Amino acid sequence: MAQIFSRIVATGSALPEKATTNDELAAELALRNIETSDEWIRTRTGIEKRYLAEKGLTVGQLAERAARSALWGSTLGPEDIDLIIVATTTPDMVFPSTACQLQKRLGCKRGAAFDVQAVCAGFVYALSAADALIRTGVYKTALVVGADIMSRIVDWDDRSTCVLFGDGAGAVILQASDEPGILASKLCADGTLDEAVLGCTGHMTGGEISGDPFVRMDGKQVFRTAVTVLSENAREVLTAAGLDVSEVNCYVPHQANLRIMQKVAERLGIDHDKMVITVDRHGNTSAASVPLALDNAARHDKIKKGDIVLLQAVGAGMAWGSVVLKW
Ligand code: ACO
Repeated sequence: MAQIFSRIVATGSALPEKATTNDELAAELALRNIETSDEWIRTRTGIEKRYLAEKGLTVGQLAERAARSALWGSTLGPEDIDLIIVATTTPDMVFPSTACQLQKRLGCKRGAAFDVQAVCAGFVYALSAADALIRTGVYKTALVVGADIMSRIVDWDDRSTCVLFGDGAGAVILQASDEPGILASKLCADGTLDEAVLGCTGHMTGGEISGDPFVRMDGKQVFRTAVTVLSENAREVLTAAGLDVSEVNCYVPHQANLRIMQKVAERLGIDHDKMVITVDRHGNTSAASVPLALDNAARHDKIKKGDIVLLQAVGAGMAWGSVVLKW
């Protein structure tokens, strides 16, 4: 029997309506007596603006808009989708899953739908899971979405975290193919790098929220870990695919911090012009970061058919992963 591969056949994305520049954010934070500046944010993170969800906008709506934009760019309709995986850390409700809600919103009737919770690494985890399920021959057309509204769980009185995040959603459609698309993926986690490094410990107990409902982070530790694990992980996934780093045409890293992205690219020897950068415009959109950047690159013709594309993400858990694919 011929081997089954999975290929990305379409991408899509969605952002809240309004962008907030660093200067605008600094002015808003000043009203709370929190001091920051465009200069500090830009030089430490590379972020210039981010899109923050307006009141009433839900993760489900962003996920639907990203999914529909991917469908519009394909020859497929919702009826063709037989697997939906949504990566999110900020679902609109504890349950049903965001993926089941998305199935209803799109009017899909077939197959499976479930969420993946791997924080900023969520989309890479979801893509790898969808690839594995397609390769077994069980599903043929998967919609994989990363969607988050991190602005609702950051502490707007904590300047070391609140300036970093933005909101959004990105989506890909992955289809069974007899030609290679996804070549290899490598997912990893180290649970000892727990909420003391990066976490949001709030949870529901007896009808009340217990614990701290806001993101807390040891920024320096996250920075160091991210650079180390992403560099190692990229080498591992490229080896698994039988590729040399020089063969990578397009590098789409998690858009957390430009300095992390540049350090990893430098360690790997990936040229700056091969790296997709959207962190300047989007901030860190958590699970949405990689698919938003990928959609941006695809729409601006930064990826051509046959290109080798390396996707990477890291986040709380800590969890990280890479996917290498042929476009
Ligand atoms: N504006 C102005 N000053 C600030 C701000 C701010 N927004 N935030 C912190 N500072 C101050 C600090 O209070 C500190 O002041 P002090 O020296 O008087 O004590 C000073 O700036 C330096 O702070 P550091 O924490 O040393 O700054 P650092 O250079 O480490 O940069 C940063 C902080 C940007 C958070 C960095 O550690 C980082 O990027 N870490 C990675 C975190 C990350 O990307 N997280 C995203 C979530 S996880 C993920 O997606 C991988």
